[in-house]
Amino acid sequence: MTSPAYTIIDHEYDVVVVGAGGAGLRATLGTVEKGLSTACITKVFPTRSHTVAAQGGISAALGNISEDDWRWHMYDTIKGSDWLGDQDAIEYMCKNAMAAVIELEHYGVPFSRTPEGKIYQRPFGGMTTRYGEGPAAVRTCAAADRTGHSILHTLYQQTLKHKATFFIEYFALDLIMDEDGACRGVMAWNLDDGTLHRFRAHSVILATGGYGRAYFSCTSAHTCTGDGNGMVARAGLPLQDMEFVQFHPTGVYGAGCLITEGVRGEGGYLTNSEGERFMERYAPKAKDLASRDVVSRAMTIEIREGRGVGPKKDHIHLHLNHLDPKVIHERLPGIAETAKIFAGVDVTRQPIPVLPTVHYNMGGIPTNHMCEVVTSKGRNPDHVIPGLMAIGEAACVSVHGANRLGSNSLLDLVVFGRAAGIRAAETITPGAPHKVLKNAGDEAVARFDAVRHANGSLKTSEIRDSMQRTMQHYAAVFRTEDSLKEGARKIKDVYGSRKELCIADRSLIWNSDLVEALELDNLLPQAVITMECANSRKESRGAHAHEDYPDRDDKHWMKHSLAWIDASGKVKLGDRPVHQNTLTDEVEAVPPKARVY
Ligand code: FUM
Repeated sequence: MTSPAYTIIDHEYDVVVVGAGGAGLRATLGTVEKGLSTACITKVFPTRSHTVAAQGGISAALGNISEDDWRWHMYDTIKGSDWLGDQDAIEYMCKNAMAAVIELEHYGVPFSRTPEGKIYQRPFGGMTTRYGEGPAAVRTCAAADRTGHSILHTLYQQTLKHKATFFIEYFALDLIMDEDGACRGVMAWNLDDGTLHRFRAHSVILATGGYGRAYFSCTSAHTCTGDGNGMVARAGLPLQDMEFVQFHPTGVYGAGCLITEGVRGEGGYLTNSEGERFMERYAPKAKDLASRDVVSRAMTIEIREGRGVGPKKDHIHLHLNHLDPKVIHERLPGIAETAKIFAGVDVTRQPIPVLPTVHYNMGGIPTNHMCEVVTSKGRNPDHVIPGLMAIGEAACVSVHGANRLGSNSLLDLVVFGRAAGIRAAETITPGAPHKVLKNAGDEAVARFDAVRHANGSLKTSEIRDSMQRTMQHYAAVFRTEDSLKEGARKIKDVYGSRKELCIADRSLIWNSDLVEALELDNLLPQAVITMECANSRKESRGAHAHEDYPDRDDKHWMKHSLAWIDASGKVKLGDRPVHQNTLTDEVEAVPPKARVY
């Protein structure tokens, strides 16, 4: 294949990290510290990455406020995952959590403090003590309600201190794969001057975040388009567990902005139109601090049964007006501002109107606990793809299984960002020569050129709107056989309509029309896979609540879904076993049981 005429600039590094959120920055820092030449490519300025929006905190069994143990954290995470999480990876994350948070403290994260000066911690949903038998754990370490913001800025400062190399406002286009199926680098477009770049690397680490923008209403930034997942799918590799989409119970009604679970951690609660604290009926022990899937379903049922609030009875009230204004001022200043701006509410006097809103993708690029991308090949369900790693929300390690616990995401970012750096240093010889390749990146350039010159009749925004509304309607909190079948048919039609894409601006410099079209090209395969996997899974588990199959079915479905998609939008399904083993003998595996809160 010959590339259309573009200026291509070549680079060679030991490692290329794609994405500069919490996971990407922690990986960049780790590889640079270990003497590996590293380029971090990011489509937005690092401190604008979506990690900045994480509010409530980062979990770690520090026990600063009440007794805690990482093994209890591990138990809660396995139970939260509805036994779809890989227990070896969950052990790794929870055991490394305390050191990861102390490391952040030493880097300079301005955590809130207890009166004795320790890192402040608050309760979060699904976090308990004594393997679910004790009181709620106080485990989530917070910097007021701006924890992600604090971590992101601190990690960026650390990477600058270590003189990491950034390629800022570069849009990653496609992976460079060789004929043996190894990843050898990545192609990218410099938005600022229009040049194309070929980055060769011994390891590409994808830290590109989730794909919340496949939905109409989400807490995710507009940039959350799962670009790494899109590249992986185009490279002929599978995505895993994509049917598991987390709805955060408290997005602002209408606007979708996040109101942190930390509000309920500080004593906030939900009510229906009768003023009833209905969570007491659904989760008698944990109440408003049950895990997110449970709370989102309860809210949806209240609305469906006519007990929603507002003129259309279509949302729920979140109260914190009973809290001491000093607590709100010190620990929840950001959400007080958000509620004022986006709901016109003074939280010291009025409840916030909220609704379950898409927040997180448990699914993504399958990896092992060392962050290496894996696929099932022949009889090996854990075949490693050489040269490719994934971390953060882009990855499916899988530490969150079918449902993530709040505050385990920031933890996942830093623990596995660090782990990626460690693995890269173990497997790469600094400065080793790169394999000579023919036509590296040509296919990526051809695709870029085709999108740039798309000449159909539909704007990006029109196709995107159809995709988002289809996903919102048919792959919602509750799903049925009929909704999923219809959804699968509709989303395939939307996928097919990309042939009709039209780009109005064909320039190469700051062409946001083209950026959005490329983002859509990443989102569409993920939307199709999400719907297909949801349609295929005939059980209810975690965030996948199938009304025609209301029970969890461990016999047939305790397995990760894998999905490959071809250019025509045809999906091939497969699976991998869940790792029910631990990594060490420091803790015992948790056998499956009923999940009640
Ligand atoms: O509610 C929150 O603050 C969100 C935290 C999370 O998703 O981990």
